[in-house]
Amino acid sequence: MTELPAEIRQRLQVDFHRPRYHFLPPSNWMNDPNGLIQWKGQYHLFYQYNPSGPLWGNIHWGHTISDDLIHWRDLPIALAPTPGGPDETGVFSGCAVAYEGQPVIIYTGTRGTRHEIQTQCVATGTDDGLVWQKHAQNPVIHQVPPEAGQTSDFRDPFVWHEADGWYMVLGSRIKDQGGVIFLYRSNDLINWTYLGPLFTGDRRHGVIWECPNFFKLDDRWVLIISSHLGTATGTVLYFVGTYENHRFTPTSEGVLDFGTLYAPLSFVDDQQRRVLIGWLREARSNGEQERAGWSGVQSIPRLLSLDDAGRLHMAPVPELETIRGAHRHWEGIALQGQITLDAQGQALDIAATFSPQANGSCGLALLAAGDQPERIEIIYQAATGQLIVRKVVAEFGHSQSIDSRVVPHTLQPDEPLRLRILLDGSVVEIIANERTSLSSRLYPTQITHNQVHLLGEATTLNSLDIWEMPSIWQ
Ligand code: FRU
Repeated sequence: MTELPAEIRQRLQVDFHRPRYHFLPPSNWMNDPNGLIQWKGQYHLFYQYNPSGPLWGNIHWGHTISDDLIHWRDLPIALAPTPGGPDETGVFSGCAVAYEGQPVIIYTGTRGTRHEIQTQCVATGTDDGLVWQKHAQNPVIHQVPPEAGQTSDFRDPFVWHEADGWYMVLGSRIKDQGGVIFLYRSNDLINWTYLGPLFTGDRRHGVIWECPNFFKLDDRWVLIISSHLGTATGTVLYFVGTYENHRFTPTSEGVLDFGTLYAPLSFVDDQQRRVLIGWLREARSNGEQERAGWSGVQSIPRLLSLDDAGRLHMAPVPELETIRGAHRHWEGIALQGQITLDAQGQALDIAATFSPQANGSCGLALLAAGDQPERIEIIYQAATGQLIVRKVVAEFGHSQSIDSRVVPHTLQPDEPLRLRILLDGSVVEIIANERTSLSSRLYPTQITHNQVHLLGEATTLNSLDIWEMPSIWQ
């Protein structure tokens, strides 16, 4: 008998690396979030999905639905490759919009065993957004613009509406130069006119750009790109600037996430909030992913805003607060060494504010157990302005840091360090002062470790709140 999604979830939930309050499919491989839309009040999240196993390949669009961006209900696959069609070897990433009272998906179809032919396709949904019909005229864009020369990287449509029609950006590359975003316009989502490159990067920004997002936030324009650095790793960058005559000119730029978050997609919901979800990639071998039977997690949705310095700010949606469980609070502690807290858990939401002195350091150890070396440490060093996340393990009788990430995070004079940490099995999402994001996947070896320690030297803990987080699955 075929196992139901809920039964698969139940079976895999014993895996302590598996998150409990982040979205992931019942089993198998997931990468990018796709087609985010609030349709008839409900949030739809589609995702790059391999229904046949926990490694990338055979890419379909999985589908899930939510009333609150936190609790999700599994739905049948929305889009599968059509043999002989423009998406016969893959239904790659894309977006969803509402057009003339119907939900419409715009995505990249691939042909060829190495996905070397990439074209843009359209599918229309039923009223309830559950069943999708591919358009007879697919592909609706099949020619790579001349600027790109010979390339098979031409994908991930992001579409929005303006007073004079529909616009689309696509990610691509210009040989020997770098990533590029191409711009198109349409009246009906089917017939598209090429308007030229919206923006071209240089080598510092990577060689291929994927999954562009382009939108107005307050009175400025934001371009987000996932930069495939030509290796297995990639980084998400953002640019803030002006948009005139179909050209984007950045005035500031930054790194959207210094860790594992990739290929994020944003959309505007009914409350006019700009919400972003990103794929939290695994950091373990193919063999380990196969043994686990699942791979890939989506971040908790984040609200985006800009500060006066042109930096992108991010905060988990407030809906997350509604599922918080048991709560502990501490405040006004002068830190001089490690303090074991009366708080436990492998799924926690943590909000901390510290005032480190010029030579101070501070942070938390998670998934700890007394004096045992193995734990996850999140540490800020004021002198270097560095935020660090690392797994500490016992090796040959000594403590060793592995999987560490060290990223810059500069505080203004008198600005406290504010950390928001979402721990969920192997997921650690860290956002510092709402502007430095560092997402990690760390895999503890000790199933029983669940203590929290407070760490610090020459630092005042202003306040610390820790909430235990429940499972979002019944
Ligand atoms: C980003 C990406 C996209 C592509 C999809 C394929 O992770 O490479 O560019 O559409 O994944 O699964």
